[in-house]
Amino acid sequence: MSLWGGRFAEGPDAALKALNDSLRFDQRLARVDILGSMAYAQAIADAGVISADDAEAIRSGLAALLRDVENDDFPSLASDEDIHTAVERRLTEIVGAVGGKLHTGRSRNDQVATDLRLWTMDALDEIDGLLLGVQRALIGQAEAHVETLMPGYTHLQPAQPITAAHWLMSFFWMVARDRERLQQCRRRTAVSPLGAGALAGNPFPIDRHALAEALGFASVSQNSLDAVSDRDFVAESLFTITLTSVHLSRFAEDLIIYSNPAFGFVSLSDRYSTGSSLMPQKRNADPMELSRAKVGRLIGHMAGLLTTLKGLPSSYNKDLQEDKEALFDAVDTMRQLLPVVAGVIQTLHLNPDRMRAALSDELLATELADYLVRKGIPFRAAHHLVGEVVQFAGQRDLPLSEIPLERLQMLSDAFADDVSAVFDFRLAVERKAVVGGTAPQAVMAQIAAAKALIDR
Ligand code: ARG
Repeated sequence: MSLWGGRFAEGPDAALKALNDSLRFDQRLARVDILGSMAYAQAIADAGVISADDAEAIRSGLAALLRDVENDDFPSLASDEDIHTAVERRLTEIVGAVGGKLHTGRSRNDQVATDLRLWTMDALDEIDGLLLGVQRALIGQAEAHVETLMPGYTHLQPAQPITAAHWLMSFFWMVARDRERLQQCRRRTAVSPLGAGALAGNPFPIDRHALAEALGFASVSQNSLDAVSDRDFVAESLFTITLTSVHLSRFAEDLIIYSNPAFGFVSLSDRYSTGSSLMPQKRNADPMELSRAKVGRLIGHMAGLLTTLKGLPSSYNKDLQEDKEALFDAVDTMRQLLPVVAGVIQTLHLNPDRMRAALSDELLATELADYLVRKGIPFRAAHHLVGEVVQFAGQRDLPLSEIPLERLQMLSDAFADDVSAVFDFRLAVERKAVVGGTAPQAVMAQIAAAKALIDR
């Protein structure tokens, strides 16, 4: 039975029903829809619109329905247009005609906005918890590799030596900003639209604040036209999730490169690696490739929703029904991905010997320039001089540290015996001791700050 048949002489065409019905995907809102209805029944009873007995009958019917939903035993029918229709139909089957009083003053427009916000608040909390797991895994690995030296890259070209802990922790801070965004997004989601009606507001004197509080919202919407059509929280959730996955794709790319035998810096545990059906030697980082790839569909969902919202006339339009599949898939994608990412990190094997072996003297060219600066040479001139040293070394195929002092002194008399101390990767790293630098002491402080942040 549809909720709106009165004025129609015949029912909808089957093809329209297939296009229009949303039960197929919005049945995931069953739980929050029922909770919203329980609170709403109480609100209209408190406002004197229905009797306390009617409210109690509706509440107990909804409670029975909630148990069915929780037991995965909710008998929906092909004729149910959406989850709101299905819940009201089923409620009326259980409690009789009194079930028909529940929707007094309410519209599916404020109802669906309420449901989706409640669902999103839970989903954001869940993703936040999963990201915390990723952060803990990063800290765990970083703590074991504060002293592990590796090449740092810019433009993916060897740049300066860093510690492996510093590399790992760089992703911690990306995730920290992602979590901050999720939590801020959740605050903007926790605004109750219930009481906005179809578009103009509820005609009965319900206490919207009490209703909001009963459902776990922090505040109520201030404009009913806006409230029924505001999907900013979906767009923001999609953006936040997408940016998170952009970060994960960058981590994934590093692991794909570093696990290539040409680098050999890391290897993924067997539990998180895959093989080839043809080439017996293969060990592929499929989880990281999928992590890199998922961004595509997430950007698609985000761009799709923004396109749907653009130019919509005021208040509710059926276009808004398109918000759900995008959001559900984005959340499901994170639910699938994040435990794997955390597992990959926890079980990742770092190979300090291979990292160390990849440290070449050219990573110390900047140290050599800094050495000249300490001798009083302006940095720009020092940079040029060291460029000549690098060119000379390249022509002779010599590591920088093996160029004879006399040869260096032909370029500048600032070079002295103590230049040999420049060619020490550990000292080069230890010098980057400012806050946020790669020196082990600084990284230890960074890890302490990270722990304080997640324990807050
Ligand atoms: N299934 C609809 C949605 O997801 C529910 C709201 C329908 N409202 C309406 N006036 N037809 O948006």
